[in-house]
Amino acid sequence: MDSARLSLNGQDYELPVVVGSEGETGVDITRLRGESGAITLDSGYGNTGACQSGICFINGEEGILRYRGYPIEQLAEEASFAEVCYLLIYGELPNSDQLASFNDALTNHSMIHEDMKKFFEGYPASAHPMAVLSSMIASLATYYPEPEGEENDDLNIIRILAKAPTMAAWSYKKSIGQPLVYPLNRLSYCANFLNMMFSVPTEDYVVPKVLENALNVLLILHADHEQNCSTSTVRMVASSQANIFASLSSGVCALWGPLHGGANQKVLEMLAMIRDDGADYQKYVAMAKDKDNDFRMMGFGHRVYKNFDPRATILRKACDEVLGELGINDPLLEIAKQLEDVALNDEYFVQRKLYPNVDFYSGVLYRAMGIPTNMFTVMFALGRLPGWIAHLKELKDDPASRINRPRQVYTGPTVRDYVPVADR
Ligand code: SDX
Repeated sequence: MDSARLSLNGQDYELPVVVGSEGETGVDITRLRGESGAITLDSGYGNTGACQSGICFINGEEGILRYRGYPIEQLAEEASFAEVCYLLIYGELPNSDQLASFNDALTNHSMIHEDMKKFFEGYPASAHPMAVLSSMIASLATYYPEPEGEENDDLNIIRILAKAPTMAAWSYKKSIGQPLVYPLNRLSYCANFLNMMFSVPTEDYVVPKVLENALNVLLILHADHEQNCSTSTVRMVASSQANIFASLSSGVCALWGPLHGGANQKVLEMLAMIRDDGADYQKYVAMAKDKDNDFRMMGFGHRVYKNFDPRATILRKACDEVLGELGINDPLLEIAKQLEDVALNDEYFVQRKLYPNVDFYSGVLYRAMGIPTNMFTVMFALGRLPGWIAHLKELKDDPASRINRPRQVYTGPTVRDYVPVADR
């Protein structure tokens, strides 16, 4: 199959076809408007490929997710988040020397400029941490103006990955009125974040290994997901050659929405609402199915996965393991499992292929780690940073890439003359 034929207004057009390494087919319509005057329409881009990419492969029908060819199940089980960052951004798993220097760089750039600490004095304690994170990431551009050059690009990648956990933890400390905790070079990436979140000057805090490991899995599972809303936003902003900090800050903003990364916070709020309503989960299943009710079963459904989301499967198992090891009996986890069991057998959900997605169980795990609900989307952002960076780098490294500029079909008023206000 090397071309597609389109018949329009009595004229036939041959359109080239691109076939990817996993057999996916894309009809290349680059020439369509020039030859036919017509464009295609695809509200929400559900059937439109924005680019060719070698970073992440998803098969929604079979519940497959791979980063640079490696199955998510293996990476979640075997790899460190730093390895996955390196893999996504540079295309290959690092060897031991590469991993050691990458880890050292992340460690040595984890502090933020002391003047940026003052920013936190201005944020109200009630500030949503996604507002803080997007502002702080964009503000890195004021400290690291971006002279062009590969070496500087790599350093800025390290700066973002290393400093974002510090910014996130500091937004939490600010919200609870506790002193900010500096990163410690002797701790791993995940342990460092948990230490900055939960240690206090008044006592020795040791990061529980079970939580360090759980965070490693959570960050890996969130690291990339091809052309999702926030990644497409990063690519859109980066396509204008905006700097890395501005591009990634836009990704944080897109992720914040409750239909995207904001869903994990909404899932926990939904589970708590069901718990407080006598755990009557059947009532909420009925509400989700009722077209006259705008309630949605948060954490269910996905634009791509029309089978299970492999990340949800891994997270459900991790919830059982971590809560079991911590001796936590969380009623919200039980309600989540009851909702999942009902949905897997209810015609409304089955017919619409609505299964639990990555956000459905992640919040239960974050909660078990002591992370507050309004920080859940920030945790998603910390995980997604390497994916955003990888796509930004892929776009910058592509000599054929150009500024993204979609078209439209205009449906407004046709031409008309101006009428002075006295005559309206
Ligand atoms: C993420 O793109 C990515 O890869 C995203 C992500 C990533 O890693 O980047 O995977 C992360 O964002 C996961 C999704 C998190 N969002 C939620 O959990 C919010 C709840 N889910 C939905 O709002 C919805 O399922 C979406 C937004 C996820 C997908 O929306 P679509 O593909 O546009 O589907 P749709 O809204 O057209 O729904 C199709 C049908 C509709 O019913 P009908 O009109 O056919 O009768 O399914 C219904 C919807 O009403 N439906 C739901 C539902 N999700 C869809 N009904 C009840 N509860 C739901 N959660």
